[in-house]
Amino acid sequence: MPELGMDFADRAASTLHSQTFLVANAVSKRFGAVQALSDVSLEVRPGEIVGLAGENGSGKSTLAKVLTGLIRPDSGEISIDGQSVTFSNPGQALELGIAGVTQEVSVVPLLSVAENILLTRKRRFSSMYTQSQLARDAQPLLDRVGLTCNPRAQFASLRPGEYVLVEIAKSLARNPRLLLMDEVTTRIGGRDADRVFEIILQLQSDGVSIVYITHRLEEILRLCDRTVVLRDGRLVGEISRADASGETISRMMVGRDASPYQRPAIAETGTQRLELHKVLVPDIVGSVSFNVRPGEAVGLCGLVGSGRTEILETIAGLRKAEGGEILVSGFAVKPGSLTTARRMGISFVPEDRHKQGLMMESPIRLNFSLGRWRTLRFVSRVQETALARLYAHKFNMRLIEFERKVSTLSGGNQQKVMIGRALSSSPKVLLLDEPTRGVDVGARGEVFEMIKELLEGGIAIVLASSDMVELRALSHTIIVLHDRQVVGALTAEEATEERLAFMMSGGI
Ligand SMILES: Nc1ncnc2c1ncn2[C@@H]1O[C@H](COP(=O)(O)OP(=O)(O)OP(=O)(O)O)[C@@H](O)[C@H]1O
Ligand SMILES: [Mg+2]
Repeated sequence: MPELGMDFADRAASTLHSQTFLVANAVSKRFGAVQALSDVSLEVRPGEIVGLAGENGSGKSTLAKVLTGLIRPDSGEISIDGQSVTFSNPGQALELGIAGVTQEVSVVPLLSVAENILLTRKRRFSSMYTQSQLARDAQPLLDRVGLTCNPRAQFASLRPGEYVLVEIAKSLARNPRLLLMDEVTTRIGGRDADRVFEIILQLQSDGVSIVYITHRLEEILRLCDRTVVLRDGRLVGEISRADASGETISRMMVGRDASPYQRPAIAETGTQRLELHKVLVPDIVGSVSFNVRPGEAVGLCGLVGSGRTEILETIAGLRKAEGGEILVSGFAVKPGSLTTARRMGISFVPEDRHKQGLMMESPIRLNFSLGRWRTLRFVSRVQETALARLYAHKFNMRLIEFERKVSTLSGGNQQKVMIGRALSSSPKVLLLDEPTRGVDVGARGEVFEMIKELLEGGIAIVLASSDMVELRALSHTIIVLHDRQVVGALTAEEATEERLAFMMSGGI
């Protein structure tokens, strides 16, 4: 495993003349007190897939934003084909052949698929482009990413798993020579993710370079020719495909091996903590019935859009069941009432941290303790800060100023705030929707350990995840959904990856 020392910048500079497409040399960027990038150098050759790994907050998205013109670096140089360049907006980066798919969604649901792909903000207001022209021009891009929908269809009518494909098509509209992809598969899974991998490999064979950011180590192993690792805004190393393994990458990222998770045994008490009796969940075919014992974790397995989230939201009181009964420790929960559900000890970590999760413009401190607020009514600022500090420490979130807005945290660190908040409310029932989305391997281990402690303390967990490895590791029982219908329930032992994949895609 080659270590990159001081000579990395020199090496990057000396290869300038060779076949390199892009060279970033000693790029730095600071946000207030946080040095997000320090002297980061990177080179990308044509047709190369370069992985970019690192813990939450290590600077990956910041580097991607610098390279796509979304933010300006404080210092450093970027050159393309040996020519020094500067760009101060994404349009200029696109001119030079650099496009990006960002970590957060950038499409407009009410516009058509074609409009989303082809129109920039400026062109959206010009009436020169007719709908039929738009549809015609979008078609080859849809073909390229393998989307068979009508280009005139409203974007919102697509399956959620297809959204990312539209974003990729959008970024290909200007024929980039380098495409930066920031955690594009965290929002999808299964065959949709496979589709993304196929597109990437096709782009590579067309000579397009890819910079691929992910926390899923298996994706790095599958795709990347080499992987560079950031830690605290510095480039700490590079791993070639030949040297890459889950262990080498995670060790370089977090400085230690990920510990294996051991599911705790369920205490035999004979009582149920959570019961769903023939619950009619809006938008789900048939009724949903299952029980969760104290100390048991039930996993909901299905493709994005299969109905997992709807079931969790109904238990959480965000949706109103149209029939049936939900009980916590034997007491019926009033349907469709978030407040009652909370009061009865149901805590929910939603999938979408922007819409339902965090108060983005409020301090980190306050966001951490919202769960507790609800149960205790009054929590002092000192207590809030202590709580935030506890979780920030557990989850290894460095450089925390608790009065900063939550929106300034990196994606994965925002996720940790949501998890910390749910855990701190001392729940009886914990509902987790894609809990470790975008969370780095080190912190994921911490989240798993905390889940284990909670289970040993007798709470019931229902979780949904697109990450099959995670779902199988955590769940005692797995309920499989296909096309908005429950199609089966398996014990952890029965739930092999093949069997789940088969059932999820409609096999019996
Ligand atoms: N607009 C901003 N204002 C203040 N700080 C910021 C801003 N954007 C990023 N940061 C900080 O810069 C650091 C790097 O963030 P970045 O988003 O690049 O991390 P990341 O490696 O992409 O993490 P993740 O894996 O969680 O997505 C973090 O400490 C983050 O809080
Ligand atoms: Mg990021």
